[in-house]
Amino acid sequence: MESPFKVDILKGKVALLTGGGSGIGFEIATQFGKHGASVTIMGRRKHVLDSAVAALQSHGIRAVGFEGDVRKREDAIRVLESTVSHFGRLDILVNNAAGNFLVNAEDLSPNGFRTVIDIDSVGTFTMCHEALKYLKKGGPGRGPASGGTILNISATLHYTASWYQIHVSAAKAAVDSITRSLALEWGTDYGIRVNGIAPGPIEDTVGARKLAPDEITIKARDYKPLYKMGEKWDIAMAALYLASDAGKYINGTTLVVDGGDWLNQPRQMPKEAVKELSRVVEKRSREAPVGVAKSKI
Ligand code: COA
Repeated sequence: MESPFKVDILKGKVALLTGGGSGIGFEIATQFGKHGASVTIMGRRKHVLDSAVAALQSHGIRAVGFEGDVRKREDAIRVLESTVSHFGRLDILVNNAAGNFLVNAEDLSPNGFRTVIDIDSVGTFTMCHEALKYLKKGGPGRGPASGGTILNISATLHYTASWYQIHVSAAKAAVDSITRSLALEWGTDYGIRVNGIAPGPIEDTVGARKLAPDEITIKARDYKPLYKMGEKWDIAMAALYLASDAGKYINGTTLVVDGGDWLNQPRQMPKEAVKELSRVVEKRSREAPVGVAKSKI
């Protein structure tokens, strides 16, 4: 789909995306590049980075890939340094790298829990922490858009509770909290905006393959009337909005991009039934003598 944004909204900006070699991260990198940004993608697998960089460059995007694991502080420092020495600056950090797998809480080892916290929550904090010196440009008093900006990719799992994802729910709750705390501190001190995006189920991603791997899990969603898969493009457009000046007054928000999926619940009763029932209940309550308890109606 064509982007509704002007092609130069990120002109001159430099973005670093963790987990940018595939899936949602790669689509954000592509759209950022198509809208004028130079992009660094960071990931653990060299062959994935190499083919992603080649694909970005084939669109005329200035792109480079650096190997690294967000769990390692030295990797974060090195990749940020390499980005700035390659492109001369850093304006946008997208914390997209994440870990996930379905597991019963009772079968999940503490190390399995910690692994996802390390990638999602600690990894996000580490990248933000090490990126700060590059992102703070204007300093205090220079207005809301004087510094760089950070986008943390989150989820909606923890808004209620999600089956078999206790580790990811906890990790993303921490990510959202990091988003708000940094928005407060760094927004005030350095004019750095920090926001998040909480994608719903997005087709053709590792997340979708891991979390809805077969017909059983897909079938389980049939009762959700609004349910449909989103596209990576949907997330990338939200990222463009938040990272560009279109979002210059948005700080500390995690934007849910899920078609309303997290709000959905099974219907209590068919639509026609509720109309009938409602009228019967109203009629009975009007006819009931004053003082009769509702439970007796
Ligand atoms: N069920 C239960 N436990 C699991 C598991 C599963 N499917 N997969 C991993 N674990 C546990 C391991 O048993 C281990 O715990 P232990 O030492 O107590 O046995 C712990 O998690 C670490 O596993 P390991 O395979 O060493 O971690 P890793 O660093 O190689 O991989 C993952 C990290 C597990 C998160 C891996 O899925 C990954 O790299 N994911 C990145 C991509 C991704 O998931 N993207 C999805 C985005 S939505």
